[in-house]
Amino acid sequence: MTPERVAAAIEKVKTFIPPEEVDLRSAVANCHNPGLVAGMLSCVERGHPKLAVEIGTCFGFGAMMLGKVCQQVVTIDVHLDPRVQEVLAMFHVTNVAQVVVPNDAAKSILLGALDFDFAFIDGCHEQAAVALDFALTRKCRTVVFHDYWDKNPGVKSVVDSIADGVLFKGYTPFVWWTPE
Ligand SMILES: C[S@@+](CC[C@H](N)C(=O)[O-])C[C@H]1O[C@@H](n2cnc3c(N)ncnc32)[C@H](O)[C@@H]1O
Repeated sequence: MTPERVAAAIEKVKTFIPPEEVDLRSAVANCHNPGLVAGMLSCVERGHPKLAVEIGTCFGFGAMMLGKVCQQVVTIDVHLDPRVQEVLAMFHVTNVAQVVVPNDAAKSILLGALDFDFAFIDGCHEQAAVALDFALTRKCRTVVFHDYWDKNPGVKSVVDSIADGVLFKGYTPFVWWTPE
């Protein structure tokens, strides 16, 4: 992935943001969430996943952007953030299901039952949590990790220990994994 292609992805993401949303527009323009932008590029390149899963919703910015490029999105969090529906509505995104799970056991059951083809891992950044999230999502064959940098040793440690497949680490703090 060349810097030019990443820049093109950022430009594409900016077109999703209505002009009146100045804050989010500038957040994207300043690459507030570069991992997500790169992940979005990956989505676009891979031909719009049928069902993308996001682990870690927060206020829904990532879910909103994924919703713009994927057919369907399920975003999962252990907390209910009331801003999520507001953000989705603000950007006219209607293909995102927000799921709040009580714990990792429930998340595991949910992910086991879903047939998804893209995963964005951005939940708890502790090593055990990232390892679990990868174990639960790798079946989809396209996994994007966020926050792969020294600030998050848990993410770094899990990603660095992946022994199979192909890892692309060219756009910090984003890492892309596929099995071949
Ligand atoms: C960095 S934020 C997510 C940001 C979001 N992906 C985005 O791009 O806008 C991390 C989120 O992970 C959630 N989280 C923490 N532990 C989790 C777990 N075990 N499973 C799922 N989500 C979790 C937190 O509640 C928080 O909302």
